Amino acid sequence: MPLQPRDRLIVALDVSSVAEAQVLVARLGDTVSFYKIGYQLAYAGGLAYVATLVGTGKRVFLDLKLHDIGHTVAQGVKSVAKSGASFLTVHGYPQTMKAAAEAREGNLRILAVTVLTSYNDADLAAAGYDAGVAELVIERAAQARNIGIDGVVCSAEEAVKIRGIVGSELALVTPGIRPAGAAIGDQKRVMTPASAIAAGSDYLVVGRPIIAAADPKAAAEAIVAEISSVKG
Ligand code: C5P
Repeated sequence: MPLQPRDRLIVALDVSSVAEAQVLVARLGDTVSFYKIGYQLAYAGGLAYVATLVGTGKRVFLDLKLHDIGHTVAQGVKSVAKSGASFLTVHGYPQTMKAAAEAREGNLRILAVTVLTSYNDADLAAAGYDAGVAELVIERAAQARNIGIDGVVCSAEEAVKIRGIVGSELALVTPGIRPAGAAIGDQKRVMTPASAIAAGSDYLVVGRPIIAAADPKAAAEAIVAEISSVKG
């Protein structure tokens, strides 16, 4: 069944307490069905909040970017699966992706981060890699597909290229979304909601343009309307 426009918006709960998250979620109401919890909230009580959100019918993306020895990754994935979360990120190393894919249970889907978007070729060289970003993104996307990962986190600018590698089976989840005229902040490569959907994104991750808006619900509704405006 194709995704409804509303279900393709994932709002990043980048706040420092569950109390703040609850206020936001209440304000957004039925406009938003999917939330992302990353380091900031996860390590401030957000892991326990997953069950609350899931209990009220919301979906949760835990952006924990796991990377450890295979056994530890597998056990972590099993615990996350019990939380009711729908998506979990792991770093795109083959051993880590394989351990996570094998351990996933229930409704949990594993997303791989190919290369962190804050890395450029010089950063990879400093970390000991021979390959540049473009080459490594392609290699890791192909590995993710071969291992049976469920989706890839990438910038919308990479979506067309990655879709060509992973085919239609994997979900493409893209942050760095900015409605026309919105503040770009520290993001470097941004796309509007409509152009990201047109480029092949399945899910848009949006933080500040919604959570820092004077009227978060109106900002979210405008993005849902923009998603709906793109012909599939
Ligand atoms: O506020 P903004 O819309 O920039 O938030 C984007 C969210 O997506 C943040 O939670 C950020 O950590 C996350 N993210 C990102 N770029 C990535 C992976 C995740 O911006 N490559």
